Formats: sequence, structure tokens, C-alpha cells
Amino acid sequence: MCGIFGYIGEGDAVTACCQGLELLEYRGYDSTGIAGISQGKIAFRKKAGKLSELKTVLDLTHLDLAIAHTRWATHGAVNDRNAHPHLDFSESFALVHNGIFENYSALKEKLQQEGTSFSSDTDTEVIVQLIAKQYQGDLLEALDATLPLLEGTFSFLLIHKNHQEIVAMANGCPLTIAVDEEGKEAILSSDPNVFLKKNFHVFFLEIGEMARVRKGHVEIFGKGLVPKCKKSERVQGASQAPSKEGFPHFMLKEIFDQPIACKRALERNFVENLEFQELKISSDILQEIDQIRMIGSGTSSLAGAIGSLLFEDLAQIPSVCEIASEVQYRNISFSSKTLVLAISQSGETADTLAALRKAKRDGYPTIALCNVENSAMAREADGTLFLKAGPEVSVCSTKAFTSQLVMLSLFALYMGRLKKRISSEKMETFTHLLESSTKQMQDVLNQKEDIEKIAKKYARYNNFFFMGRRYMYPTCMEAALKLKEISYVNANGYPAGELKHGPIALLDSEFPCLAFCANEMTKEKIISNLMEVKARGAPLLAIAPSNMKEVQAIADDVIFVPPVIDLFAPFPSIVAGQLLAYFIAKERGCNIDQPRNLAKSVTVE
Ligand code: M6R
Repeated sequence: MCGIFGYIGEGDAVTACCQGLELLEYRGYDSTGIAGISQGKIAFRKKAGKLSELKTVLDLTHLDLAIAHTRWATHGAVNDRNAHPHLDFSESFALVHNGIFENYSALKEKLQQEGTSFSSDTDTEVIVQLIAKQYQGDLLEALDATLPLLEGTFSFLLIHKNHQEIVAMANGCPLTIAVDEEGKEAILSSDPNVFLKKNFHVFFLEIGEMARVRKGHVEIFGKGLVPKCKKSERVQGASQAPSKEGFPHFMLKEIFDQPIACKRALERNFVENLEFQELKISSDILQEIDQIRMIGSGTSSLAGAIGSLLFEDLAQIPSVCEIASEVQYRNISFSSKTLVLAISQSGETADTLAALRKAKRDGYPTIALCNVENSAMAREADGTLFLKAGPEVSVCSTKAFTSQLVMLSLFALYMGRLKKRISSEKMETFTHLLESSTKQMQDVLNQKEDIEKIAKKYARYNNFFFMGRRYMYPTCMEAALKLKEISYVNANGYPAGELKHGPIALLDSEFPCLAFCANEMTKEKIISNLMEVKARGAPLLAIAPSNMKEVQAIADDVIFVPPVIDLFAPFPSIVAGQLLAYFIAKERGCNIDQPRNLAKSVTVE
């Protein structure tokens, strides 16, 4: 989703911004732009489309400083006019913005009545016009006078043609300022992934904070421009930008990363004496927990749905996983001994972040289960569980999902042990079973060519029905989400028992069904469901454990996966689902790593 980047220092600002925009590309975007100061004027270029489009018009040189943006459209169509940066009526200011300015419409109307004309349809342009109206010579004062007018969750960077400074403002959306150790340059960004190769002193702006960044000098202020003595944190930039390492797409690379990523999650997060490295919540508090409420969006919410089964099966703790965007509007009270677990690869998803903040306000202990270590959720939750899966670049989440399952399994075992509901022997057995189940993913990866052949056969269909029971129900929903987002094929994941309550009406020879069979407890029932589908003449594909040979006689095609216990059956099965989605998308010629309309980090609610 939208990405912000700013540069002030001894290097070339345009080159730095282009590199920054490249590193922000993975988030998903539809337009880009850069603005800077050149000979006392604002110089800018912006363009709808990929960064390569911007580069065709990028003739800016020798900018004193610059701000840049990748836009993911919310207010206003995707076109050059609506791309950021936005300028005020006098072309003295330029601004790049993330998030949503909610009450922009009334303020825009007022400005128009007063004679201000607008050159875009965005909420962003209203902010810069308002700041320009307040300006009396000091950028920060103009900003501070404007802020009380703005409602919403946002962050932005602002420059003025007469000031050698970048002003930054964060109001609930992430924004960081990194100064290199020699004080030669400062980088401002919504995404810490842009900090590369050097060690930096990084300031993470919190809600309501503003900053003035000049060459080698950062000042932070709170509301009313009260100076803040904020400590920086030392962050080591990544040694290099993520690479596909020879794979045609990041998605395929990340699917193949999974056995190693899961091994890392297992090894680094779990130590013999039942302590997680970054948990930070005392075992006394956790021992008292009688409910677990997970929150997440998309794939992370589906990992949570599997997590709730794990907490119930391994620790006998009632658990639910809720869709983060719905949590805020629900009116139910949970026990005061409820633990809230926010699950998010990026740690920045606005819906999940808002739900986490609400849980904190309501007084519940909170844990963020994240991949990105300096993310907002990791910083705001009481405790953290890190995936250590390495950067996930493809918009389509794969290795984060299986790493989340590892962490949820380990944490469920930990809670079961704390609450004395599982013996240390059983715990050890389950830990080994978990480890071996993640290793079984390799067996499915080895079937890549066979799965590609099956994918080619099914790639022509525009609708799919996915079904599964118990652990395979959220697994089939996750597989359906993969197919939808990268191949633009309609796929519905359903509990197989619900088939007869409605969806069976959809099935015919043009509506295939993909059945996830790997749940021993419900084996007979899923076989009956396969028979029901076959009787309706729908093409039937199954992902089944290799000890369920009877499936072969019923389904048209079967991908056999290694049999593992129900609790950990999602590992091999989802890899088959991911590869199937990948090869169907490939066959249909889709943009696999950056599917249309989608963003990696969804930073608006
Ligand atoms: O970073 P998060 O895990 O919070 O992201 C949540 C969803 O936006 C994400 O899982 C999305 O559904 C993926 N594109 C699915 O592949």
C-alpha cells in the first residue's frame, strides 16, 4: 500500500528516492512521484503506473532534498493528477501522505468557497492547501495550526521551497526517521525495510509526533510544538535488498523457503525451559488466562482460525479468531482474563493495529505475533512472538502463514504446559511431531512438476468450490484466498459439512471442487462429501494423505501429501494448495507477485 520516502543529506536526493521507491514497490502500488527543492522552487514529477513509468519522465537533478511516494489509490482514480506529491495553490509546498484524512470533504468545500482551486481528487491535496493557508514563515507552526482540523489515521512528509528541511508528522500510521552513524544523511520512511547496508539511529514517531529534519539534525515535537527528548534506537540495515534467488517469482521462492523458515521459527523461538525470547509477559499472568482472542486480517486471520483449534486441543483454552476489521464494532465483553493475540506478518495492517489498540485500551494483555520486528504492532503490544521467517516480498502470503502456524502450535503447547494440561512428555512428543510435520512440506515441494500438470488441467475454470473439515476447513479457506488473489479466479472455501446446506447447488461440470481430506478425525465424513460432489458431475480434485488411497477411486485427480497428525496436517496440505494456485495463476498469465488492486501492507482501515 502507499509508501513514503524522504531523503536529506550529502548524497544525490533523486537517486536515493529512486532506490527507496524500488524498495517500497513490494508493498503494492499504482502510481509514484518525487518532489524536491531546486533553485528555490519545488520541482516534481509524478506518474500513474509502475516506477519504470516515472523514470521515463524523471529529469530532475541536483535537488537539495526530496520526498517520494508510492500510491495505492483510495480517494480518486489512478491517474497522474492523483499521484503524490501534492502541491498547494502557490506551488510552495509539496506533501506525500499515507492513510486517510477522513473529514477532508467538508474542508475542501470550504476552501473551494474561499477561492482555492484543486488539481486532484485526493484527500491529500486538502491537507497541503490547508497548511499553506496557515503558513506565516515557519513550516512546523503552519503544520501545528492545521492538525486540529484533521481527523483520521495518517502520516505525511512536507517540504517548502524556502526551507532546507523535511517536516514529518505521524498520526497512527508508521513513520520512521533514520540518521546514519556519521550524520551525513537522514532517510524518512513509512517502512523500515528501506534501511540498507548501514547502521542507523532510528526515531519511530508515535501518534501525534512531528519532526523537523535538517542535514544531520533531527528535532521531535509533540502537540503544541512542545520539544520532545526522544531516544533513537540503533537499527542495522539489511545487508541487501531481498532477491528471488533464481526463482521466477518471489512467491515461488517463498513457498520453497517454508521448510527452512519453519525450522527457524522452531529453533529460535523456543528453548527448553519453556520461555519465548521476546514474550515479555510474565508466566504468572499467562497462567491465569482463561480465553484467547486472536485478531488478524486475510491470511493471518486464517492462521488464527487454525490457532484457535490448537489452543483448544493442546491447552483446553477456549479461543476465537476474529476478523480485525469487525472487532471494533462488536459489543461483547470477554473475561478479564482474556489474552489478545494480534497476528500480522507486516505488523502494520491498519485493521489489526486498530483492533490491537482497542484491546489495549480495554485493559487486556496483548501479544503481537509478527514477522517484521520493528513494526508498529511489535512496538505497541505488551509482548511479542516473532516469526523470523525472513522478508516476505510477494503480496501473496505463504511462508508467513506456515511460520505463524509453527508459532501458534508452540505457544499453544507452552500455554498447555503452564496450565498443567499437558505433561512434559506429551509436550516433547508434540514438539517433535510439529518439527517432523514441517519437514514433510519438502515432500510436497518435490511434487512441483506433477502439481503444475494438474494446475494446467484446471486453469481454464473460473469458479472453484474448496472444502475441508476441522483443521482442513481454515486450510481450504487459505488455499482459496491464494487462488483468488493471484489468479483472479473465484474460489470459495467452505466447511465440507455445509455443502448440502446450499453451495451444492452451484456444482456442475463447469464448477470444480477441491477437497482437502487430511483430517483423520473426519475421514469418513469427507469421503461422503467427495461422493456427493462426484454424484453432481463436478470435476473433483483432492489433496489427501497418502494413506487415504480410497480417494483415488473417487476423485478425478489427487495430490497425495504425507500423512501427519490432524493438528499439524495444514503444513503439507497448504503447500499443495499454494503450488496449485501459483501454477494456475502462471498458466493464466497473471502478475503473480503484485496482483492487481492488492497491497502487501494494508495501511488503511
Ligand atoms: O501483514 P498482515 O499479515 O497483517 O496482512 C494481512 C493481509 O492483508 C494478508 O494476509 C493478505 O490477505 C495476503 N495478501 C494474503 O495472501
